[in-house]
Amino acid sequence: MDTPHEAGYDAGVGTGESSPQSVMPRPSGPREARPKDKLHVRGIHVRYANAVPVIFRTRNFFAGAPSSDMVAAMPPVVSIRNLSKTYASGFHALKGVDLDIERGEIFALLGPNGAGKTTLISIVCGIVNASTGTVLAGGHDIVRDYRKARSEIGLVPQELTTDAFETPWDTVSFSRGLFGKAPNPAHIEKVLRDLSLWDKRDNRIMTLSGGMKRRLLIAKALSHEPTILFLDEPTAGVDVELRQEMWALVRGLRDKGVTVILTTHYIEEAEEMADRVGVINHGELILVQDKAELMRKLGRKQLILQLLAPIAEIPASLEAYKLELARDGHELTYTYDTAGERTGITALLAALAEAGIRFRDLQTEQSSLEDIFVSLVGRHK
Ligand SMILES: Nc1ncnc2c1ncn2[C@@H]1O[C@H](COP(=O)(O)OP(=O)(O)OP(=O)(O)O)[C@@H](O)[C@H]1O
Ligand SMILES: [Mg+2]
Repeated sequence: MDTPHEAGYDAGVGTGESSPQSVMPRPSGPREARPKDKLHVRGIHVRYANAVPVIFRTRNFFAGAPSSDMVAAMPPVVSIRNLSKTYASGFHALKGVDLDIERGEIFALLGPNGAGKTTLISIVCGIVNASTGTVLAGGHDIVRDYRKARSEIGLVPQELTTDAFETPWDTVSFSRGLFGKAPNPAHIEKVLRDLSLWDKRDNRIMTLSGGMKRRLLIAKALSHEPTILFLDEPTAGVDVELRQEMWALVRGLRDKGVTVILTTHYIEEAEEMADRVGVINHGELILVQDKAELMRKLGRKQLILQLLAPIAEIPASLEAYKLELARDGHELTYTYDTAGERTGITALLAALAEAGIRFRDLQTEQSSLEDIFVSLVGRHK
């Protein structure tokens, strides 16, 4: 089987493609980052907010370049090296992906439709075979030690696939059995209660609502007590209240030491949930960064001043404001931190007046995670 969309993931055994994979050696160094593609965002004017170049200058910013802190810490719970996938159609869905997931983190994978998110998850979960590369899950090679690797992993798939005539109790119990785990009714009860499915445990699945079916998929994924949970678009088509319940549930799992990797199209979901964020586009991982760091950059705002008369250079008296001069001396940009106690704008305007620089208009702009996302994805078109 060659598709993330059609494969069923229920078991630790016998799912998906079974042909042997080529196992590539680990690359000796971090992959070369490729930030030089042209900036081109179709139909959208993206003002180049200061945050973006700052991000690109950050050392170890790109995937595959683990920081020295990370190397010194515990080994990653999922380690992906040089992962590529070419489907039978010849389509290159993944291109040399390197990624380490830290134990106990919530990692959000963002990317437009068709970027390769489900393909990446499906390979780690053993549903789709990689064309090149290696993956370790919980320290086990997903090809050589596939039983051990899969017993660590739970997957909530993007597509709803459930057996209509079974009951939640039976299907969750069955999922556990597929992983060779001894029956544990107390665990199954806890999972069903945690997901508010206890009352429906003996109803046929076809009589459950869409949101309940989605929660049932989570229950199935948790049936064998995995330490790594993949959630592929867990809240697509889920109402606001349920979405918040799911977020709480995922946080609760993380607090118990489960590592969570989720994909989402909702930027606010990544903002709300993730410890780290990765952006994938056209099969390439183009950004991996700490969310708090991204949010710190989000806090940046720019004040743009259109000058009455162009200036050749910024006067020395204004050096402290780190202004940028653009548009042939017609525009001055001041970047400030909204999180700071003072913006410094009043002082700047006074200093400008003192230096004899007058302006005819001004505007402010704020970069958002969405801006960053759009500009990154546009840049790699
Ligand atoms: N079995 C297949 N054969 C050929 N191409 C495939 C197959 N499965 C997926 N693809 C292609 O691989 C690319 C990545 O698909 P994938 O499902 O991984 O994207 P995604 O990032 O999960 O997208 P979405 O956000 O829409 O879920 C797409 O262009 C898709 O058409
Ligand atoms: Mg997908």
